[in-house]
Amino acid sequence: MLSGERVHLRALEPADSEAMWRWYHDPEIGRWMDTSPPISLAQNMDKGANRPRNTFEQMLLGIETRQERRLIGYVALGDTDFIHGEATVQSIAIGDRDHRHGGYGSDALRVICRYAFEQMGLHRVMLWVVADNTAAVRAYTKVGFVEEGRRREAFRTQGRRHDFLMMGLLSSELK
Ligand SMILES: CC(C)(COP(=O)(O)OP(=O)(O)OC[C@H]1O[C@@H](n2cnc3c(N)ncnc32)[C@H](O)[C@@H]1OP(=O)(O)O)[C@@H](O)C(=O)NCCC(=O)NCCS
Repeated sequence: MLSGERVHLRALEPADSEAMWRWYHDPEIGRWMDTSPPISLAQNMDKGANRPRNTFEQMLLGIETRQERRLIGYVALGDTDFIHGEATVQSIAIGDRDHRHGGYGSDALRVICRYAFEQMGLHRVMLWVVADNTAAVRAYTKVGFVEEGRRREAFRTQGRRHDFLMMGLLSSELK
């Protein structure tokens, strides 16, 4: 259920904390995401050891390569609304630079969306993305997401303002 062509999604283990900590401080990742001040490895290890259990309302999953089972990133799905049948992809990153732009991110997104539609019975998945994050917009478009709204100049990164796009995917549109 949680495997795609290239990736497998799984719950994170405390042993994954060091990789998560490195990615958290990678400026290429932080550039396009809401960031918090730096935290120590020890603080992140503590966070990793005490992570809340995944639920349908809120889940954080590690992205592994399907062949070698190597952890290369993470994806979070949350804000689930079972009344209206919608959830939000809150973050996604291919932390391992060697695997970025190699089709892994779009495959992971496809897998989590299929899970949301088939397993959780949802009708829609949505996400926010910075309009100039070209690789992300391309990855999401490949999966079938379309632009549904634009908050102009709502995101500031490295001293510049960018539009923020709301993108959505209906269960019938998953590619
Ligand atoms: C966004 C992200 C998860 C997508 O995962 P990915 O594995 O890189 O995505 P994919 O390889 O599946 O798709 C990326 C597409 O963008 C293209 N691309 C990459 N860089 C590009 C650029 N600068 N301009 C245009 N297209 C670009 C790739 O060629 C690919 O398209 P293709 O398959 O048609 O060739 C990943 O790039 C990442 O972790 N980025 C940093 C963190 C981030 O921005 N997260 C998203 C916050 S909303």
